[in-house]
Amino acid sequence: MNHLLSIESLSASEIEDLLQLGFRLKALRGKRKHPTPLEGKSWALIFGKSSTRTRVSFEVGIRELGGRALFLGMHDIQLGRGESVEDTARVLSRYLHGVVIRTYAQSEVETFARIGSIPVINALTDDEHPCQILADLMTWAEDLLRRQKKAPRRIGDLFAGKTAVFFGDAACNVSQSWIFAATKLGFNIRLAAPKSFQPSAGVLARAKQSASICFEDARDAAKGADLLYTDTWVSMGKEEESKKRLGILAPYQINTSITQAAKPHALVMHCLPAYRGQEISAEVFEAHAKTIFDEAENRLHIQKAILSRLTARK
Ligand code: CP
Ligand code: NVA
Repeated sequence: MNHLLSIESLSASEIEDLLQLGFRLKALRGKRKHPTPLEGKSWALIFGKSSTRTRVSFEVGIRELGGRALFLGMHDIQLGRGESVEDTARVLSRYLHGVVIRTYAQSEVETFARIGSIPVINALTDDEHPCQILADLMTWAEDLLRRQKKAPRRIGDLFAGKTAVFFGDAACNVSQSWIFAATKLGFNIRLAAPKSFQPSAGVLARAKQSASICFEDARDAAKGADLLYTDTWVSMGKEEESKKRLGILAPYQINTSITQAAKPHALVMHCLPAYRGQEISAEVFEAHAKTIFDEAENRLHIQKAILSRLTARK
């Protein structure tokens, strides 16, 4: 693994390795044996969109691994005034040991990775949010491990035969990363969304999934599910469509009627930030707050695993 650009570009064994290492680093946090593979290395965070979790967990993670983190707002550097991604990649590769990029177009992180000579991590684009989904998988695995007497050899085996359902804007970055994760790890994915918020036929084909994973009826989608997941209805960059989105997506809220249709111990997850009363009811959010904030914490551990693997290869 030279970069972490998407779930689509990861293999099942790379996902397994990152999850295993994420668990190890979580157990070692604050201990003397905690590794510091980033010693002497500088990583920059180049962010063109807002962030709480991703920014803070990467900055803290880089420091805990012994490295230095620089935060570069996209509009504070010349990239925001029209300097090309290509030239930025060539320059920053002379100073840094890696970059974490949050932006709009997936092509920007891909171009940086192609032209530069340092590892690139996608910290969210319009197409994918791979770090989030890896943290979600870690959180799901923790729950499955708690319920199981004997841990399987591979973490990935925990997900076999399980069903996850994504509610709301199923064409957004988080949903698309979930679709690819389901294909790679062999669990079932359903999308509860109106036609206009379902992923394109191209994305479904690339993920080797069929249109039958899309459900227009939210309760039908939830039936017998193991995991219910949602994200904001108005992703960053879509603010002008707010009113329209809040109207069309209203029937896809995760609320008690939806949780009652799922399995009794089904997990409810949210990548955050959450808008109670929109994509999730306040009641369901609070009932599942432990899982949701575990997910947020696991961003730190899994990102440290990603940084460690990318550093080891340099
Ligand atoms: N879930 C997530 O990526 O949160 P931030 O936008 O706060 O980084
Ligand atoms: N889909 C959301 C995720 C936020 C973490 C967005 O892109 O704004």
